[in-house]
Amino acid sequence: MTRLDDLPDFLNALAADVMSRGEWGKVADYIPELARVDPAQFAISVALADGRLISAGQSRTRFSIQSISKVYALACVLSRFGDSLWNRVGREPSGDRFDSILLLEQEHGRPRNPFINAGALVTTDVLLAGRAPKEALSEILQFIRDGAGDDDIHIDASVAASEKATGFRNVALANYLRSFDNLRETPDRVLGTYFHQCAIEMTTEQLALSGRCLAGLPDAPMLLSEVRRRRIAALMMTCGHYDGSGDFAFRTGLPGKSGVGGGILLVVPGRASVGIWSPGLNAWGNSMVGTEAAERLARFTGWSVFG
Ligand code: DON
Repeated sequence: MTRLDDLPDFLNALAADVMSRGEWGKVADYIPELARVDPAQFAISVALADGRLISAGQSRTRFSIQSISKVYALACVLSRFGDSLWNRVGREPSGDRFDSILLLEQEHGRPRNPFINAGALVTTDVLLAGRAPKEALSEILQFIRDGAGDDDIHIDASVAASEKATGFRNVALANYLRSFDNLRETPDRVLGTYFHQCAIEMTTEQLALSGRCLAGLPDAPMLLSEVRRRRIAALMMTCGHYDGSGDFAFRTGLPGKSGVGGGILLVVPGRASVGIWSPGLNAWGNSMVGTEAAERLARFTGWSVFG
């Protein structure tokens, strides 16, 4: 029997263990709609290279993917505009919080990477070129739906409205970027689009399936070239968990992208795509239990890219 045949039992035991322990972290409260989510929830889904999808916990409960949407927006921009994005956004970890403005002044309005908020706003600005916000959002949604093979993936407008009402830091970042001429569209238009892309809802099953193209699984639809897939995974590994990226890489040895809704997309090149969700966050704004689950899964399977 291979280790993967034990995966269903392992995932069920993992889910039972975290549920019984009841240590969840703190839900994001700067977006009122997210503050209302019960932290005592956990789900994990693993899409394997042989086509199996194995889940445990509340794997059919929808949650707000938030910053995980930045991976899909980046994939759309690279597909449509190629490497020109890198003239406006860097590829280095920032070492700062996801919503920090600190380095923007020192670095003349060029965000360190596309996963911190400033970099994601520029990425969304690029995606808006020649498009109405609705079309740009459809492009991201369609990429996700095609990747998952599931059209039942939507935006929760109440989450977008909730963030719009309180997203003062993002408003500051967008205006600051514009002052450096690194936004072409108006801050309002970029922010409206960005808040809606963050408000996409998915289950861990849908997240795992949509990530198959990023993991390069054989049954995944061909939505990305090999080179882009590898580069996006490299950025997920180095920048996907913000100032907690080093710790996440140390613990899992895998590329991952978090969101303040408590989701994590984990990519195991050539082997698996994993969706994890638990809404309570750690000090870096990444899922506390989700990170622990990713670490335990990596140890169980030996999936670290470092062997
Ligand atoms: O821009 C924000 O603050 C949120 N819409 C997304 C932040 C986020 O998910 C950070 N991830 N851990």
